[in-house]
Amino acid sequence: MEGIRRPVVVLDFGAQYSKLIARRVREAHAYSVIVPYTITVEALREMTPSGLILSGGPASVHQAGAPHPDPGIFNLGLPILGICYGTQLFAHLLGGKVARADRREYGIARFEHASPCPLFEGLSSPTQVWMSHGDRVEVLPHGFTAVGHTDNSPYAAIADDERHFYGVQFHPEVVHTPEGMRIFENFVHKICGCGDSWTMGSFGEMAVQEIRERVGEKKVLCALSGGVDSSVAAALIHRAVGDQLTCVFVDNGLLRKNEAKLVREVFQEHFHINLVCVDAEERFLGALAGVTEPEQKRKIIGGVFIDVFEEEARKLGHMDFLAQGTLYPDVIESLSATGGPSATIKSHHNVGGLPEEMHLELLEPLRELFKDEVRVLGRELGLPDEIVSRHPFPGPGLGVRCVGAITRERLDTLRDADAIFVEEIRNAGVYNDIWQALVCLLPVRSVGVQGDEQTYEEVCSLRAVTSSDAMTADWYPFDPQLLRRIANRICNEVARINRVLYDITSKPPGTIEWE
Ligand code: XMP
Repeated sequence: MEGIRRPVVVLDFGAQYSKLIARRVREAHAYSVIVPYTITVEALREMTPSGLILSGGPASVHQAGAPHPDPGIFNLGLPILGICYGTQLFAHLLGGKVARADRREYGIARFEHASPCPLFEGLSSPTQVWMSHGDRVEVLPHGFTAVGHTDNSPYAAIADDERHFYGVQFHPEVVHTPEGMRIFENFVHKICGCGDSWTMGSFGEMAVQEIRERVGEKKVLCALSGGVDSSVAAALIHRAVGDQLTCVFVDNGLLRKNEAKLVREVFQEHFHINLVCVDAEERFLGALAGVTEPEQKRKIIGGVFIDVFEEEARKLGHMDFLAQGTLYPDVIESLSATGGPSATIKSHHNVGGLPEEMHLELLEPLRELFKDEVRVLGRELGLPDEIVSRHPFPGPGLGVRCVGAITRERLDTLRDADAIFVEEIRNAGVYNDIWQALVCLLPVRSVGVQGDEQTYEEVCSLRAVTSSDAMTADWYPFDPQLLRRIANRICNEVARINRVLYDITSKPPGTIEWE
């Protein structure tokens, strides 16, 4: 585990790809963190990095107020990889020259490298790279040589082998640079000397140790939703402190079919975690009776959840920590390029407000991880695939999928249709190709015919989208035969639905949920 805490630090100059850079480093099994470019050399030194990466960014080095790092970073004796703007910073700050390119270079380019540069070991030449820049390096800084070029950029890659400074004008982190991963592997292993220390196995062991040290003999409360993040957090904390952890699962009556049963089976029967299941369906549905406005639904559901959770927690006696499944993207989202490392951290939307009111310390053991890493960790901890690879599910649950008035009958209808939809998607082997699949029950009735009888029943809309972060999404192109089977099954097996629609709206303009 030596070295797991010696990160490759990504200095963020406002790049849209900083997150991707950090992920690539982790895919190469080295720990990485993103910090704003404003970080001081002292703060950086305290992080004991094994190397630095200067990200791209939208600015030009000549622009007034262009983001510049503390120049002391070049004297730390650390290997540095510059990417796009990061490379221009090398030239600009170390005595070379950057100028506006005659032609903006944007898109795919053919990159050739000839010299034996450790950064490109094992890389084909020529190879495809992805460019996106308006400025380019015109005069190399002292000590640097050109180690690769494209048609438009004679200095598409530059290196100072003695100081272990490397710069590429292209973006190795994006998929359009197909051999980009090799560049990160070379930088991380051959240049920074990181071992393969960042695996979820070693992270898990280290996290267990840290949780034990922090929690000591104290008690931890966890709001378990059954989603990936809170489930993995609970399993990890349980491994660390066993019965000092108590999980509270609130059945708000807005959950998927058999959800409470699944949570009980996994956490109580399999893991033997102290689990309190609260049946609060009546309370939630009572508060939601007659409410149709989406934001009002959300507020009510959030408010009742806090009341119920607090009441249950009080019954459990004194607790010291509240566990949350906050992930790294939530943490970095709040660290803008111009903010400081101490900028505020977004609180988890499902249980926001709880820690302040209940005077609990937060325990967030996943706050360094990306979602796919959390899934791997979950598997390592023995959680079933049904939990670790499941689609996201909103905190307000089916409340925001039961468009119009929420009644138990309509929720049961929705649950049945949703179960068929998900089952068919799983059976067809496409569940993991889809970001999220959901059914919405619409406040519309339609005329149909079943047997010899006319029907006048509810209409549901299926939605399945692909996405990488839920910010944008596209509808999933189902095999029409699969759609046909799903629609047939829903109309035949769900008594109150006689018409099924498929939603082909992307996001934007539509959101993923209907409400
Ligand atoms: P939208 O509908 O905004 O959803 O495109 C983006 C992602 O967020 C989820 N979502 C929520 N999650 N509380 C949550 O915990 C909410 O109120 C909420 N609303 C939407 C949605 O399922 C999708 O994954």
